[in-house]
Amino acid sequence: MKSFGCQMNVYDAARMTDLLAGEGYGETASEEDADLVILNTCHIRERAAEKIYSELGKLAVLKRERAEAGRDFKIVVAGCVAQAEGELVLRRQKAVDVVVGPQSYQHLPRLLRRAAEGARLTDTDFAVEEKFRDLPKPTRAQIAARGVSAFVTVQEGCDKFCSFCVVPYTRGAEVSRDVAQVVTETKRLVDAGVREITLIGQNVNAYRGEDSLGDPWPLERLLEHLSDIDGLERLRYTTSHPVDMTQGLIDAHGALPKLMPFVHLPVQSGSDRVLKAMNRRHSAQDYLDIVARLRAARPDVALSSDFIVGFPGETDADFEETLALIRAVGFASTFSFKYSPRPGTPGAEREDQIADEIMRERLAILQGLVETQRQAFNTATVGRVVNILFEKRGRHDGQIAGKSPYMQPVHVFGPPELVGRVLPAKITAAGSNSLSGEIVQGQEQG
Ligand code: 5AD
Ligand code: SF4
Repeated sequence: MKSFGCQMNVYDAARMTDLLAGEGYGETASEEDADLVILNTCHIRERAAEKIYSELGKLAVLKRERAEAGRDFKIVVAGCVAQAEGELVLRRQKAVDVVVGPQSYQHLPRLLRRAAEGARLTDTDFAVEEKFRDLPKPTRAQIAARGVSAFVTVQEGCDKFCSFCVVPYTRGAEVSRDVAQVVTETKRLVDAGVREITLIGQNVNAYRGEDSLGDPWPLERLLEHLSDIDGLERLRYTTSHPVDMTQGLIDAHGALPKLMPFVHLPVQSGSDRVLKAMNRRHSAQDYLDIVARLRAARPDVALSSDFIVGFPGETDADFEETLALIRAVGFASTFSFKYSPRPGTPGAEREDQIADEIMRERLAILQGLVETQRQAFNTATVGRVVNILFEKRGRHDGQIAGKSPYMQPVHVFGPPELVGRVLPAKITAAGSNSLSGEIVQGQEQG
């Protein structure tokens, strides 16, 4: 199982692995040892999609070698490239056996049985509800093997149609899972030792899952309810859209101690003209207001965002406005990309595409600025005592590694028994990618 792209794909990859465990498959460390390879693909930018075809080229060679040795080898393309390109994948790469979309992978056992008989198949049905109903529940051992922090999908799809984005086409319309399903899955994870749950969805803060009476719950109500689960230490949610950032959700950051003070809130651009062209439905000032209200509710909240440079028609002045927004907010971490025209999206049709050279320059400037902010944020943590959820052994002997409330990786010296515990640590140094600290003796904290 090789997964690319976002957290939704990480979650789907785990579900597919669990599903196929029931069919007698086990995970291997490399494709050399595998009888079946699943590429769980991403279609968000052209580079991500093209990478899949080079991976497939290598797998095709492996498949030929296997065939010569009389051994079977099956290749499945799952995820968003599968959804977007469907049969085209089978045509472009003859070695592929099965193409299966993100809303139909519950059919994999059946698809693989037919592939074993020599069929080449595509299944890109949108069967979200059926998927969640039919997928097997992971066992305690499967959960424990994935560590103390887990994702729970609560919402899928997107109705926003930002003019650069393929997600509404690959993942379909917004659908929320029922409250009861989410609660059951979360309790099961916590029972098996998970301490941190990240609720995930393409538009997670548009969550409207129904309770047993058919009433739709907003995300903050779900978070509040999950907060009561004993043994669950931390809650997060991602990814949010600014227009769905309600005051209720903002207030939850002040009210729920288990809700971590870190919000990933993509803004994409700081120019109102570009935001409008992107169909984002909010202004730069709206974004700044949300940030101010979040900080009022939870003064130590850390912000993270996504940026696209070089959307068609973006001028130097527009780009300057993006830099101004970044300076005004101060981000703890960010992801930034050159605009990549995607088939079927309105942005790709525009005639005022920006030259790659200009995009590259703007990206370098933007990344320079956000890197300074990231380092400043990390340095500001030095000397503070923060709670760390320890997740695994560190790279060096005697070390364990975990995360601060603000998603910073932190290393301390300590015994592996502390994995799964939340303990206060004094941060002693900030390296380029992680912090070092010392556990502060005393009371365990939430
Ligand atoms: N080009 C570049 N970046 C994109 N993203 C989405 N679509 C594109 C595209 N066509 C970025 C956005 C989004 C993140 C997941 O990927 O910033 O928030
Ligand atoms: Fe894509 Fe916009 Fe939907 Fe996010 S909100 S998934 S960027 S269309």
